[in-house]
Amino acid sequence: MDMIRPVETPVNPHVTISGVSKTFRTRKGEVHALSDIDLTIRRGEFISILGPSGCGKSTLLMLLSGLVPSSRGMIKVDEKSIAGPNSDIGIVFQQDVLLEWRSALENILIQAEIRKADMGAARERAKQLLKMVSLQDFENAYPNELSGGMRQRVSICRALLHKPPLLLMDEPFGALDAMTRDQLQLDLLRLCRDNDMTVFFITHSIQEAIFLSDRVVVMSPRPGRVERIVDIDLPRPRRLAMREEAKFNHYTHEITDIFKGLGVFREEV
Ligand SMILES: Nc1ncnc2c1ncn2[C@@H]1O[C@H](COP(=O)(O)OP(=O)(O)OP(=O)(O)O)[C@@H](O)[C@H]1O
Ligand SMILES: [Mg+2]
Repeated sequence: MDMIRPVETPVNPHVTISGVSKTFRTRKGEVHALSDIDLTIRRGEFISILGPSGCGKSTLLMLLSGLVPSSRGMIKVDEKSIAGPNSDIGIVFQQDVLLEWRSALENILIQAEIRKADMGAARERAKQLLKMVSLQDFENAYPNELSGGMRQRVSICRALLHKPPLLLMDEPFGALDAMTRDQLQLDLLRLCRDNDMTVFFITHSIQEAIFLSDRVVVMSPRPGRVERIVDIDLPRPRRLAMREEAKFNHYTHEITDIFKGLGVFREEV
């Protein structure tokens, strides 16, 4: 395995992560979650993070959000070091966190209320976002009247209401069935194209990472390190049929082999 990583000279960096490590101190001792992460995310890029459970993916997302401090190293967003919660981001988690007593539209508007934004403009944008994800007829529906996929669409709309230049997503489609997941991937790509965003996307699915991304970051088991970055040279817009193409399969094999090399997948011999 080559030990020398090429030095990246990215065009227009949006996020720069340099020498970042994170150690949690618990009652049982220290947990080294992340070790020496170097990663530059380009403006407008869709980057996915793939890695085994417990390798520190969610921790890295929390460091980017500014909600959790790193133990070592530096993270810069727009050339500025992160010091405290970053309000210029949107976050979507695996489980939607919708308030059951508020309609879909009112759930999205929470984002504007917290920011004390112009509510008239926010309402217009919220409706526009609902339309973009085909939920225009459900703005007055309550979360318990929505399917899992619809609920997650509402969460995405809420994360995008304030037009964040950076969207952080932690396995947002992990709890959805395969067909809903396919549709939401397509919805997300359309939203990204229309909203000029940089996306940091965590997933356990190799195929999902390839389908969505410009680059896939493959992480090693804990303490998480960047093992390899795979450039995904597939045209956009992405089409579902691309998943059957030889080039797509080539990427799937390449990434699977990296995980086999790391002992993440063990096959019978
Ligand atoms: N607040 C915390 N306090 C103590 N340890 C933590 C904390 N958050 C995460 N960890 C530990 O850090 C390691 C990485 O956790 P993290 O949640 O980032 O993994 P992950 O890659 O997101 O896993 P998964 O794929 O299962 O979601 C784990 O060993 C976890 O126990
Ligand atoms: Mg996680």
